[in-house]
Amino acid sequence: MTSSFKKVRALTGMKDVLPDGGASWENLEATVREWLASYGYRTMRTPVLEQTRLFTRGIGEVTDIVEKEMYSFTDALNDEQLTMRPEFTAGMVRATIEHNLLYDRAHRVYAMGPVFRHEKPQRGRYRQFHQIDVEALGFAGPDIDAELIVMLARLWKILGLTDIRLELNSLGQADERAAHRAALIEHLEKHRSILDEEAQRRMHTNPLRVLDTKNPAMQEMANNAPKLFDFLGEQSRAHFEGVCERLRDAGISYTLNPRLVRGLDYYNLTVFEWVTDRLGAQGTVCGGGRYDGLIELLGGKSAPAIGFAIGIERLLDLCSQVAGETVRPECDVYMVHQGEPAQRRAALLAEALRDAGLRVIVHAGPGSSFKAQFKRADASGARVAVILGDDELASASASIKWLREPAGEEQPQQETIRLDSLVTELKNRV
Ligand code: HAM
Repeated sequence: MTSSFKKVRALTGMKDVLPDGGASWENLEATVREWLASYGYRTMRTPVLEQTRLFTRGIGEVTDIVEKEMYSFTDALNDEQLTMRPEFTAGMVRATIEHNLLYDRAHRVYAMGPVFRHEKPQRGRYRQFHQIDVEALGFAGPDIDAELIVMLARLWKILGLTDIRLELNSLGQADERAAHRAALIEHLEKHRSILDEEAQRRMHTNPLRVLDTKNPAMQEMANNAPKLFDFLGEQSRAHFEGVCERLRDAGISYTLNPRLVRGLDYYNLTVFEWVTDRLGAQGTVCGGGRYDGLIELLGGKSAPAIGFAIGIERLLDLCSQVAGETVRPECDVYMVHQGEPAQRRAALLAEALRDAGLRVIVHAGPGSSFKAQFKRADASGARVAVILGDDELASASASIKWLREPAGEEQPQQETIRLDSLVTELKNRV
């Protein structure tokens, strides 16, 4: 009988990771944790749900994220305005302030997990996606800025990724940006006659965006527009030069991209992105920068900080192009059995094998034939099948069938091993 319940499907832009895909996630997460630990980073976990005003204040009212991409709702139970985090940084900073983490020292921290943005889904762009978020809280740089970038170059190397390049810019400080903005608006005013309708509309609210135009008639005007870099004061320039010097020390090449402004308002000084051409339109694998004003903006005592986030889906897509999918075997040993006494004995033996560190599946389900069980054993990727039936129990032994030989060793295809030495034998040979 079929149920009348209309099947539920996953939400648009939100993906399931199925058992065959799970190993790539776990391998990457394990590699990333080791890589982060090698630079002294420790994990910090903050809630997925936060008060909406944390993000509007932290990320900025007039950003795409806050204006149109947040999953926000009113918690009807206590009438609170809440938002599913669209990024980690604001929450990490909230927790840093709330627990007074910076009172006596700086912290290197990271988090991994889901974030939510209501964007138009396409390859590499989802509504629930996952980030590796890394924050160096309380460090003024430029040494730490360079360390973060060098650290990312190491991760790409560990993962065997080569087609990934670094784009770098400095956003200076707020007063420098304000002076540049005024000059930019003046430049746009001067060329008002060639601005299209959209540019005219935006020139006062978001003049930087006007420069991103694809309109050929406006290209020359955009290319000749005043550059933020020319408005940077001595200190900002020295900071940027400090980062660049250290990148050169480390042999890391970069492209200066004056148009790199990032989509969140909290940045100052160093900003960067790692980009690849292998992922189609969504080629930014990692983005980050310095945010020296955010802690104070969110009510804490002023302290410098810098961080970045990597999109895990994009990174996995890139890794699979280089290394192929990794499908991990379900187990080392698959227990095949016939009859209830053998099934019960198999369950106990499996526990003993697990005590010895092996991964074991005991065939489950009513009365499958040996043939069906072997088929399942083979599909599981197990190295060896252990067979228990009435004959084996009567002689206190098990039959062993090697499904995949251990590397470099030749095993007899099938053999008999006494039950009391089974654990030791398999422990040594699987
Ligand atoms: P973000 O540039 O907004 O920065 O996101 C970082 C990365 O998340 C992107 O480079 C991309 O790989 C991935 N990503 C962004 N949106 C999507 C999406 N819709 N689907 C799949 N992947 C996506 C931040 O979030 C900042 N909080 C980074 C940071 C940390 N800055 C300082 N500290």
